[in-house]
Amino acid sequence: MNIEKEQLRHVVTLTLNRPDKKNALSSAMYLQLTQALRDAEFDQQVHVIVLRGQVDCFCAGNDLADFVAAGALNAEHPTVMFLHQLSQCTKPVIAAVAGLAIGIGTTALLHCDLVYAAPDCRFQMPFTALGLCPEAASSLLLPKLLGYQKAAQYLLLGESFGSAEALHFGLVNQVVAQEELFALVADKAAKLAGLPTEAVMQSKKLLKQPQQQLVQQVLHQELAVFEHLLQTETCQQALQQFFQRSKG
Ligand code: COA
Repeated sequence: MNIEKEQLRHVVTLTLNRPDKKNALSSAMYLQLTQALRDAEFDQQVHVIVLRGQVDCFCAGNDLADFVAAGALNAEHPTVMFLHQLSQCTKPVIAAVAGLAIGIGTTALLHCDLVYAAPDCRFQMPFTALGLCPEAASSLLLPKLLGYQKAAQYLLLGESFGSAEALHFGLVNQVVAQEELFALVADKAAKLAGLPTEAVMQSKKLLKQPQQQLVQQVLHQELAVFEHLLQTETCQQALQQFFQRSKG
């Protein structure tokens, strides 16, 4: 299993565990994540969800091999199912990020409630270089968080940024020494899980509600464009280049 699930009292921790591929998310991993989020949603014992990778890598984004296969990004597509589940999760999600956070490794954070990061993270959304466009409603949520120009720097130019910038933008709540990251996140999760559950869930709902409908709408619009771009020669060539590079 490339997703490890561990439950400690009222906290479920989901760990991306595919280090040989820098935790690139395969279809199987999206399905496992979606199922785990669904289970957490229905399990009254679960109050908080933690999402993390290893101490040196959070996630290198979507598995690019799956992009080569392309296909329809409909409601049954594993990535789409995951995006729906995460963006509509009613329980708080805390992310612990160390090392790489590429593509959906960064955009998924926009749907988390709290994000803690090690000092050396590299956040990047290189969609355009791959001939692709933003996903996970990042075209809505990133400009809202950073302002338009900064969002364009990261979503159009595809430049990377580090933990200090992520903290400054408000994408990250706190930068924590790498060796303390998981322990601090476990503490925060336990603290949140110990607060009155209904109050926390209702509060999250109120925080998310004003833009929930718009988020879902943008998510769908992005997917339609993404699906089209995936099939273009430009995109397929960029993907081939990546795999030739990584073999060479
Ligand atoms: N999809 C599929 N495989 C990936 C991957 C991805 N997103 N990211 C990394 N890998 C694989 C590499 O192909 C390589 O596999 P191999 O050893 O079988 O050749 C392995 O993971 C290690 O990656 P490598 O490139 O050798 O490590 P690195 O430390 O030099 O670089 C990255 C790490 C993440 C910067 C680089 O792999 C990369 O740019 N990956 C693509 C990121 C991306 O574009 N994600 C999608 C955004 S939409």
